[in-house]
Amino acid sequence: MQTTYKKSGLIEKYRQHLPVTAATPVVTLGEGNTPLVQAVNIPKLLGYPNLELFFKLEGLNPTGSFKDRGMTLAISKAVEEGAKAVICASTGNTSASAAAFATKAGLRCYVLLPHGYVALGKLAQAIHYGAQIIAIKGNFDRALDLVRELAAVTPVTVVNSINPYRLEGQKTAAFEVVEHLGRQPDYLCIPVGNAGNICAYWRGFKLYRELGITSDAPRMHGFEAEGSAAIVRGEPIKNPETIGTAIRIGNPASWQEAVQAQQESNGKIDAVTDDEILAAYKMLGSAEGIFCEPSSAASLAGLIKHLKSGLIPPHSLVTCVLTGNGLKDPDTAQKVTVVDLSPVEADLAPLKKVMAL
Ligand code: F0G
Repeated sequence: MQTTYKKSGLIEKYRQHLPVTAATPVVTLGEGNTPLVQAVNIPKLLGYPNLELFFKLEGLNPTGSFKDRGMTLAISKAVEEGAKAVICASTGNTSASAAAFATKAGLRCYVLLPHGYVALGKLAQAIHYGAQIIAIKGNFDRALDLVRELAAVTPVTVVNSINPYRLEGQKTAAFEVVEHLGRQPDYLCIPVGNAGNICAYWRGFKLYRELGITSDAPRMHGFEAEGSAAIVRGEPIKNPETIGTAIRIGNPASWQEAVQAQQESNGKIDAVTDDEILAAYKMLGSAEGIFCEPSSAASLAGLIKHLKSGLIPPHSLVTCVLTGNGLKDPDTAQKVTVVDLSPVEADLAPLKKVMAL
């Protein structure tokens, strides 16, 4: 007996806005449709009680990051076009996502990672999904250069965001934000690494404005980490550094389009320090019950910076994109909050003493 069921995934939902046809074989893991959760404590904590703040929890995608939105489309199109193998350079999340979708599609997957700078959970994912992992003695920018060179001389499809389908898939997050809020936010705050995601959101918001679904589009406020802030400084950074290893990138691939998104939206690409990122990261956990990875917290860190400087007015409707799941980077979580984990006797009396009851 044939079972009929509702198909999941964002290609099915947003097919009319994506470069697919009835012939495209859809490879999905049920990505998209992530929660938009309103902050209840942070606005008051910051002293801006009239701020309407929402978090887009992209860490709830199937591999724990927003990359799945682009990967469902990139891998579906790779299969449609007859690819047998895919390749990416990655700070971790792209590799996890590429490995998962490639496996589902029956494609080989090669990932080039900067040795020593990939969070533990992301590495575990790529291993678990069965990618061929190659750690290089170089950073992400070098890995991406190598991927481009390899793809020019070997039959592998690049699934980094230089693959045009990636950003097309990722733009669906903007549609979801609008659908959840019933309008566009005034400001969208987002981390910037290779600078693809800010462009993808801008494409999505622009399309909804063009279609008359919204009357306007938000201002795009993107945030690089200070030690990797190539766009802010106006020149590539040879040795980028930051605690947010996901955005440890010194020569963003989507640089020009990101600057255009900033200009067209009347927004601002700015830098936040590692201390600001970590403060926001901790605040999300302790005040809102949200565990994102450090790089993701650059969006909240940036919002706080722009509220303080007056660039974002205190009564605004703001969405902060939290790009990846905190479980991917257990090391940083354990490092930034020091707790006493020495065991107590398994009896009531010592337990009550420790709990101060
Ligand atoms: N947040 C997280 C958690 C990321 O993994 C990335 C990028 C970004 C933000 C920045 O997004 O590059 O579109 O500006 N990670 C890539 C990777 C580089 O390889 O996983 P972007």
